[in-house]
Amino acid sequence: MKDHEKIAPFSCNIALIGFMGTGKSTVAECLGRMSGMRVVEMDEEIAARQGMTIPEIFAKHGERYFRSLETGLLRELGSGENCIISCGGGAALREENVALMKRNGKVVLLTAAPETIARRVKGDSTRPLLKDNQSAAYIADMMEARRPRYEAAADIVIQTDDRTAEEICGELLTKIRGMGEKDV
Ligand code: S3P
Repeated sequence: MKDHEKIAPFSCNIALIGFMGTGKSTVAECLGRMSGMRVVEMDEEIAARQGMTIPEIFAKHGERYFRSLETGLLRELGSGENCIISCGGGAALREENVALMKRNGKVVLLTAAPETIARRVKGDSTRPLLKDNQSAAYIADMMEARRPRYEAAADIVIQTDDRTAEEICGELLTKIRGMGEKDV
């Protein structure tokens, strides 16, 4: 799939889920460019509405508060114009959130090896849950703990190691079409 290729908008939301650093934002941006659909970057939207960065929200109000903001935003996005949703890495861990994603959308899980994630998030200070440890071993443990919930939520799974956003979008499109989703 080429970067400039155009596709018709999907007739539902596309929610991209997966561990931090699996490429959700990059793939969402690419899909948005191709389809012309609105892209909602959950972290960005939450940060803008709160007037604080994600680390500030975690530090000031705690993770539980942040999680309730995620649920509120997903509730909103389940109605209204279809869009591409780049979910925060923890959003699919709550069953309620997954139900909201599925109400009007397909859930696409992006995966990558812990070593790939470690490379991608190296030196990043915007992710409170990885601020003290960014080793592949730590990431592997956290990922393993989350894996059952990610997999249970997913309609489609796409592996992202050593692939471009365009290649990933191509696979996504093929798989969505295979599910009978009308996108053209
Ligand atoms: C989180 C992932 C982050 C952000 C927050 C918590 C998580 O989003 O929502 O730091 O629990 O996995 P990204 O996956 O976009 O980094």
